[in-house]
Amino acid sequence: MSRGFTGEKSPDWPTGVYKVSFSSVNLDFKFRRLKILVSGGTGYIGSHTVVELQQKGHEVVIVDNLCNSSAGVIRQIGKITGTEPLLEVFDLTDRHRVEDFFGRHAGLDGVIHFAAFKAVGESVQKPLDYYRNNLVSLMNILEAMHQQRVLHLVFSSSCTVYGQPESLPVTEEAPLQKALSPYGNTKRISEEMIADYAPLSGIKAVLLRYFNPIGAHPSALIGELPLGEPNNLLPYITQTAIGKRAALSVFGADYNTPDGTAIRDYIHVCDLANAHVLAMERLSKLQQQQKPEVFNLGTGHGNSVLEVIQSFERVSGLKLNYRITDRRPGDIEQVWADVSLAESVLGWKAVSSLDEMTRSAWNWEKYLASQ
Ligand SMILES: NC(=O)c1ccc[n+]([C@@H]2O[C@H](COP(=O)([O-])OP(=O)(O)OC[C@H]3O[C@@H](n4cnc5c(N)ncnc54)[C@H](O)[C@@H]3O)[C@@H](O)[C@H]2O)c1
Repeated sequence: MSRGFTGEKSPDWPTGVYKVSFSSVNLDFKFRRLKILVSGGTGYIGSHTVVELQQKGHEVVIVDNLCNSSAGVIRQIGKITGTEPLLEVFDLTDRHRVEDFFGRHAGLDGVIHFAAFKAVGESVQKPLDYYRNNLVSLMNILEAMHQQRVLHLVFSSSCTVYGQPESLPVTEEAPLQKALSPYGNTKRISEEMIADYAPLSGIKAVLLRYFNPIGAHPSALIGELPLGEPNNLLPYITQTAIGKRAALSVFGADYNTPDGTAIRDYIHVCDLANAHVLAMERLSKLQQQQKPEVFNLGTGHGNSVLEVIQSFERVSGLKLNYRITDRRPGDIEQVWADVSLAESVLGWKAVSSLDEMTRSAWNWEKYLASQ
């Protein structure tokens, strides 16, 4: 997997002039080492982002209550980057703990806020848990940021805010639709909350709308660790292949798509992680911002469920046990992103192929089985 960018740096170099090569062009630029709070940093996307931040020379402090992750991730990040980030374990819905944290960590440059509950189905069963966890955490963080003058925020949003868009690929300008689940609603309300509070508080924010993150770090030392039955396609595929699940259900093969199965824009988690670093670096240099900036993060094209299965079978050499079942209520037919804004403003583009995504997920599943 190529990033097209190589920086000659050691993880603990401070501020300075860095010599980098970008393709064949050499240029010097001023590098500022940032100190970033990564909330939910032991989780799936958070841990990959911590790796990217540290590999680019930034300092990370993680807050996570480990409700959906494990502290062992810190050691794994250390193996990849040579540095174990600091982890503080507490619940971000606890306002006093959040205030105390910000009071003790002077000199934070920004926050990347991942911590949230994320299971769509569970959110329908436990809506108040989702509203409380996802919204109260964000409110506590926003208030503490304002109090301590930590003025840069990157927020994890989701393409779920678009519902089934009227035209594809979907741009950031597409009208937002009524959320199909309490989880989706927390993302929409969070975006609005940030937009309302940012101009009053001086906080500059980037809202990143992820499409479908999949895959794992190429080292196979970190990846997605679903507790219980996975909600997402790829962990279900790899768990079926390794023998943890009997068979994969493909929900619906009668959609209006070329092979009848639903289409999503799958993006490698490392590409996604990279976008967070660029977003935070952009905020740290931005003089002024009228309102939060919103970016779609996807590859710009969609793959059907059957194409993902075929990719998995290709890279693993295995035949997957799957069966076609009825559509799942609430699933949309197809969505993929227009990513031109992230490319032009953040200078970011996803570089990994679908086969790289499925291969890395399979290597991660095999690593888990070997432990
Ligand atoms: N994974 C996806 O498909 C996807 C898609 C779109 C958006 N997102 C969003 O991206 C973010 C990260 O997702 P992920 O897949 O890495 O999820 P994850 O569950 O792996 O990571 C979230 C982390 O936050 C922690 N956490 C949750 N509530 C907390 C609280 N109150 N206090 C402290 N820690 C808390 C969990 O322990 C976990 O480690 C979430 O906001 C999610 O909604 C994810």
